[in-house]
Amino acid sequence: MKISDINLKIILDSRGKETLEAELRADSRGLNADLRGIASVPAGKSTGAHEAFVLEPKLALEKFKEIKPQILVAFASGRIESQKEFDNFLISLDGTENKSSLGGNLILSLSLAFARLKTKSEGKELFQYINKELGINNQKLGTPKPIFNVINGGAHAQNKLEFQEFQVIPTVDDFGIALSIGKEFYRKLQEFLENKFGKENIFLGDEAGFSAPFRNNEEALEILADLIEKYKYPLRIGLDVAATQFFKDSFYIVDGKKYSAEELKDYYLKLIDAYNIISIEDPFQEEDFDSFASLTADSYGLRRINTDKNISINQSNQHQSVLVITDDLTTTNPERLETAIDKKSGNAILIKPNQIGTLTETLNVVKLAYESPTQNCVGDENNWQAVVSHRSGETMDDFIADLAVGINAWGIKAGAPAKPERLAKYNRILEICGKN
Ligand code: PGA
Ligand code: ZN
Repeated sequence: MKISDINLKIILDSRGKETLEAELRADSRGLNADLRGIASVPAGKSTGAHEAFVLEPKLALEKFKEIKPQILVAFASGRIESQKEFDNFLISLDGTENKSSLGGNLILSLSLAFARLKTKSEGKELFQYINKELGINNQKLGTPKPIFNVINGGAHAQNKLEFQEFQVIPTVDDFGIALSIGKEFYRKLQEFLENKFGKENIFLGDEAGFSAPFRNNEEALEILADLIEKYKYPLRIGLDVAATQFFKDSFYIVDGKKYSAEELKDYYLKLIDAYNIISIEDPFQEEDFDSFASLTADSYGLRRINTDKNISINQSNQHQSVLVITDDLTTTNPERLETAIDKKSGNAILIKPNQIGTLTETLNVVKLAYESPTQNCVGDENNWQAVVSHRSGETMDDFIADLAVGINAWGIKAGAPAKPERLAKYNRILEICGKN
């Protein structure tokens, strides 16, 4: 494959902010008139301190002008054929620890556009290409669980909720059915909130989940649990607490109350039990590996006790531990994940390609997670899981859908089942289901 041209432009994301879209073209030699790979990158709002540097898009365009000739020369010399070679070339061009010279956003847009181009040149589907790049032999691919963020709080909405994401997660395996359940629940929730708070007081947060004048986090949880119970939906509740956002002077401030990490853990254990919560992301601030580990260990204990007594856990949940998901703690970064693995600070890692900056590095982190043991609820050895995630500022790019399928992720977070930039991801998985 001969790369004939590379371009970069500025587009707007779902918040109306500038972001980058890259395009790589290959010399088609008359075989295929449309050998192009295009990819755009999202942006977070509650970003982790250890994420790759984001270069202001206008400056990224300037940088791109400088490096474009070097990239084209490298391609022409035949030194770059594979994804790894291209990504490593970009990493060496940047030459910094956290991609502060070229920007993780510029590098990632090029890396993902290259993946799309290679996919086309090999006549594959993107998820197949990603799976091959991941390099785990005989991995059987399924579909991820959609994790619908239906109530938005924290940095993503103007309301009193400290917790950032209140999610519902279908327990059914069929992705199409899971999506229908999510959509139906979303409408029921809208109806309920409009009746309770008045239509004029309901807004959408950044990820298309509802924002309303809830009294506190527990009221939001209560509403979800009641609706699930009332209509008997096969749904479990998940949370992304994003706790760094309400951590101040060594304490967490929730609903006007000050919690130490230990007290907050006990509070979470009560919530997990009371609302049969299946997953909890970033329960503590982004440097506190030990409290993550303590909650992970104690939530196994909680499940075991409940299973023994056979209370509040139904049959299908008996052997399922709570997923303690690390996002700002690990920032899709291999060193951070190593620490989390050593300290047993969770059992699932959130995967956001733009936290690290290339596809190759993203897949290396996934591999490390899959090879690393944690414990499950019955005390057996089990390995870390991966959950693929969008960002709160999204584009129409659906790359993460293929990523989630290609790495056989436990779940995918792409927001509420509403708004085109969120639905693009869920719809792409539906399309993939039709191809399998
Ligand atoms: P962000 O939030 O994209 O604003 O960083 C998403 C998350 O915390 O998972
Ligand atoms: Zn998060």
